[in-house]
Amino acid sequence: MQSTTRKRLLEAFSAADGEFLSGQALAEIIGCSRTAIWKHIEELRKDGFELEAVRRKGYRIITTPEKVNENEIRLGLQTKVLGQSIHYLESTESTQKIAHQLAMEGCPEGTLVIAEEQVNGRGRLTRTWYSPKYTGIWMSLVLRPKLPPIMAPQFTLIAAVAVVQAIEEVCGLYPGIKWPNDILMGGRKVTGILTELQADSDRINAIIIGIGINVNQEKEDFPEELRHIATSLFVEKGEKISRAGLVQCILLKLEKYYQIYMDRGFAPLKILWESYALSLGKNIIAHTLTGKISGRAVGISDEGVLKVEDGNGQIHDIYSADIEM
Ligand code: BTN
Repeated sequence: MQSTTRKRLLEAFSAADGEFLSGQALAEIIGCSRTAIWKHIEELRKDGFELEAVRRKGYRIITTPEKVNENEIRLGLQTKVLGQSIHYLESTESTQKIAHQLAMEGCPEGTLVIAEEQVNGRGRLTRTWYSPKYTGIWMSLVLRPKLPPIMAPQFTLIAAVAVVQAIEEVCGLYPGIKWPNDILMGGRKVTGILTELQADSDRINAIIIGIGINVNQEKEDFPEELRHIATSLFVEKGEKISRAGLVQCILLKLEKYYQIYMDRGFAPLKILWESYALSLGKNIIAHTLTGKISGRAVGISDEGVLKVEDGNGQIHDIYSADIEM
């Protein structure tokens, strides 16, 4: 829907203050046909507005979609650093891109970029990430640990633990982690994490942790090609989830584990990560950039590298790959 049309439609509903507006009245206000109004109403429904339609009366808005704007996230946020600076966008190309720009400009540690929609969301290994409006969490966080770049992959694993625990706490669901950072339920992906770096050869300037969570999509909302590999928390739980509440919980968990990591190193977090790992002890195929390695996933190293033992007993270190289980 054109944004000016939507703006005028929402203004009309807002002025009506919960009263019905007939299709004819709306058509006159917006300056289009009643059929066009019906189409616009359907678009609003898809975007999470709950509308009532009654014959001879018209339409009225019952509830508007929950937003993940600054107010919603700030109210009840218990962190000291993460999310203390929030950049909210209704629509953006990619929160990752904005977070990179802000990091270059010197934004403070913990800066959160969050959007209702990404029109060019990025996934791992140059894939795209489907990020429709109002239904998911599309966010990027800037961290500035004083560490060498080699430590960066550990942050992906720490973020995955924080997200899994937040999903458990907020939704009462129990997802698992597929190395390095896919969060799955019933074999389908509910969350992806993309960790990127701004660094000199010996020190990190910023780590940008991008987190994409399918929250309130219905099964049919996913494009055909994603339906067999993706799921949402709503599909798994059968109830709508508060996106802002989940963001707050993720930030709190991540802040806690970030602190533990800086104080005590990766060891305690490695144990936690392993407790959620779906691939460990299983036969897998790792599709790497240079070929594929089949074997048993036997563990991760202190650097977060996956160890795979092939049929000859040889251990392979996997730094980056797609894992088939
Ligand atoms: C993956 O391929 O599994 C990683 C997906 C990461 C998606 C998130 S959504 C927020 C942030 N912005 C992006 O463009 N990508 C990440």
